Amino acid sequence: TLRRGKALQLTLAIVKPDAVAHPLILEALHQKILENNFIVIRSRELVWKRQESERFYAEHAGRFFYQRLVEYMSSGPMQAYILARDDAISRWRELMGPTKVFRARYTSPSSMRALYGLTDTRNTTHGSDSVESAHREIAFFFPEFNVREWMERSEPFFR
Ligand code: PPS
Repeated sequence: TLRRGKALQLTLAIVKPDAVAHPLILEALHQKILENNFIVIRSRELVWKRQESERFYAEHAGRFFYQRLVEYMSSGPMQAYILARDDAISRWRELMGPTKVFRARYTSPSSMRALYGLTDTRNTTHGSDSVESAHREIAFFFPEFNVREWMERSEPFFR
């Protein structure tokens, strides 16, 4: 599953409440994960308290959409995943498409947000945007998961 010479990478993906609530969309997103050679390392369903939502999106505090985002992300069950493949972070973001749903429909019509997104808030998925945020977000959702240890143990099996 790894192209030769490419390093294994982990990312944190979320299927947001609007998509989890719709079984066919959730199914379609799972299909995307598999079709694109991601390996699901961990997965959990959870519901955020408002405080956790505020903490996760703290970098957006003060922006006009912050309250709406925080409220929405604590409105119902979501599903979080640790996904692995080469270039996992950018490949997952590519599959998601742009944040804004109408831009996604215009520029990346087959992306997940273009296909299934409802609004810029209810846009089906989240993905880490850098190695640092992937590590931070993995720790947020899977505190018992040790990235470095997992990499050392698992990387050879992907070669
Ligand atoms: S931006 O516009 O470049 O700052 O957007 P981004 O950094 O990708 O992430 C913004 C997150 O906030 C959510 N959100 C919105 N973004 C832009 N406009 C509106 N109106 C809005 N409402 C909510 C957006 O879905 C991003 O969430 P995540 O989970 O990080 O993808």
